[in-house]
Amino acid sequence: MEKNVSLKIKNLVKMYGKKVAVNDISLELKGGDIFGFIGPNGAGKTTTIKCIAGLLDFEKGSISINGMDNKKFDVNLKRSFGYIPDTPYLYDKLTGREFLFFVGRLYGMEKEEIEKRIDEFSKKLEFKDYMDLKTEEYSHGMKQRIIITSCFLHSPDIFLIDEPLVGLDPKSSRIVKDLFKEFSKTNRILFISTHTLSLAEEICNKIGIMDKGKLVYFGSIENLKENLKKSNLEELFLEITKDGL
Ligand SMILES: Nc1ncnc2c1ncn2[C@@H]1O[C@H](COP(=O)(O)OP(=O)(O)OP(=O)(O)O)[C@@H](O)[C@H]1O
Ligand SMILES: [Mg+2]
Repeated sequence: MEKNVSLKIKNLVKMYGKKVAVNDISLELKGGDIFGFIGPNGAGKTTTIKCIAGLLDFEKGSISINGMDNKKFDVNLKRSFGYIPDTPYLYDKLTGREFLFFVGRLYGMEKEEIEKRIDEFSKKLEFKDYMDLKTEEYSHGMKQRIIITSCFLHSPDIFLIDEPLVGLDPKSSRIVKDLFKEFSKTNRILFISTHTLSLAEEICNKIGIMDKGKLVYFGSIENLKENLKKSNLEELFLEITKDGL
């Protein structure tokens, strides 16, 4: 039987001191969803993702991953998602291969399994020639490819990805987008925060628009276009968030 992959956020409120960064948002996703999380700078996207990943505590509401409350410390829960932060961190003095081994071992993967996955991804994301160089010698795009691989390594059910395409050249963006599409066919959830509206328009079946801590839209792009009589996501985005910044 297929696993019930799900992500449920209910009435999430996150404050930084007196500042409300995320203001009572709720949404539900299931396996197969590619969710594009968009919104102006400072809207609360990164904060929400960090709450889901368990990196930030929150004041109110609940988040459940595959039916488990994310405030519980549970190894299976931690293993069920992968996270790519907006400013990824690599250990400069490790090679790409060493870094991926390090991450794989943290997730309790066997050596052979890690090797197999590294081989698969280094071909897919075209970084085979860089694998044994220290990551301090990598360009930004090369670092991104290693980070993306580290998130996919243990085959999680849910991917939390904050700004995946920043700094990638057009060919690498294409490869990463194809990878996302491929993974979404396998009962997984991709939760992607992005300013690249064309990415959301091209690959997402659902979008959420954040504005000043509120989720002002959640649903399909088609419904939104029809409701607001706009032909593309950029026009919709500007219309919905026009009283912003
Ligand atoms: N560590 C922090 N301490 C205090 N305030 C913070 C902190 N991190 C973020 N904020 C504030 O919380 C709000 C939401 O920030 P967040 O980083 O979640 O926005 P974002 O939607 O990811 O923006 P961007 O598109 O620029 O990445 C902003 O007003 C920001 O200034
Ligand atoms: Mg952010």
